Amino acid sequence: MDNKIISGKELATKIKSEIKLEVEKLNLEGIFPKLSVIIVGENPASLSYVRGKHKDCAECGIISDNIAFPETITQDELLEEINRLNNDNSVHGILVQLPLPNHIDEYEIINSIAPEKDVDGFTAINVGNMNIGKDCFAPCTPQGCMDMLDYAGVDLAGKDLVVIGRSNIVGKPVATLALQRSATVTICHSKTKNISEKTKNADVIIVAVGKAGFLTGDMIKEGAVVVDVGINRNDNGKLCGDADFDSCLKVASKITPVPGGVGLLTRANLLKNTVKSAKNAGK
Ligand code: GUN
Repeated sequence: MDNKIISGKELATKIKSEIKLEVEKLNLEGIFPKLSVIIVGENPASLSYVRGKHKDCAECGIISDNIAFPETITQDELLEEINRLNNDNSVHGILVQLPLPNHIDEYEIINSIAPEKDVDGFTAINVGNMNIGKDCFAPCTPQGCMDMLDYAGVDLAGKDLVVIGRSNIVGKPVATLALQRSATVTICHSKTKNISEKTKNADVIIVAVGKAGFLTGDMIKEGAVVVDVGINRNDNGKLCGDADFDSCLKVASKITPVPGGVGLLTRANLLKNTVKSAKNAGK
């Protein structure tokens, strides 16, 4: 039964050891990849994600700095900091942790990041280039979903693939990446009629709705592949995904766990993008 579970831990560990070697090589050439992370306020989930990012960087020899601002920072002050980082040649990746406080215009902040340092892949330039299949920084979580499917040997060409969720961070870009791999993609969302009807016909389901246990075993067909992007806490405070793991595991041919699944690949892809940016800058 265990080989049904696609291990993010195994794959992320492999990718991180490859990145570590690559960073060592770059260091010998005088290139020292560096990620700057901006965090505004004290959202506990954001603080925990950011801690994880710094830990990963340290493990792989990537320099990272943490730039923390209080909730009260103004839009102009934040723009000024990003401008400073854009012009700092020692910085290869700039990540502004989301969400930002309500008085700050997220779109304007994200799009003030130099596209060549946008390792999250959130700027309009990167999103546009991804959509037309040009070289870009692919957003880390959608790319992580593709990495998990590749690792599990799932070829998407001609497959019926359902994405549940239409966020800019996951749903829309993961649908684009799946389409580029020639899947037949359906995007479901809060206004979709009878989601089960769609999911029951799907060969592959990527669920990113932010609702614990949303996708249940009775909603999927025998042998389907389930990629679970959710990171939620259930009523007992336990970390869990958007799929009801136990019921889906009985029906699926493969499934990603939470924790230990896509989340670790999100983190690994941030490292990959930072190293790619450092390599581009060194050219
Ligand atoms: N908040 C939740 N996920 C992400 C992410 O991937 N990047 C950033 N910058 N903020 C996030």
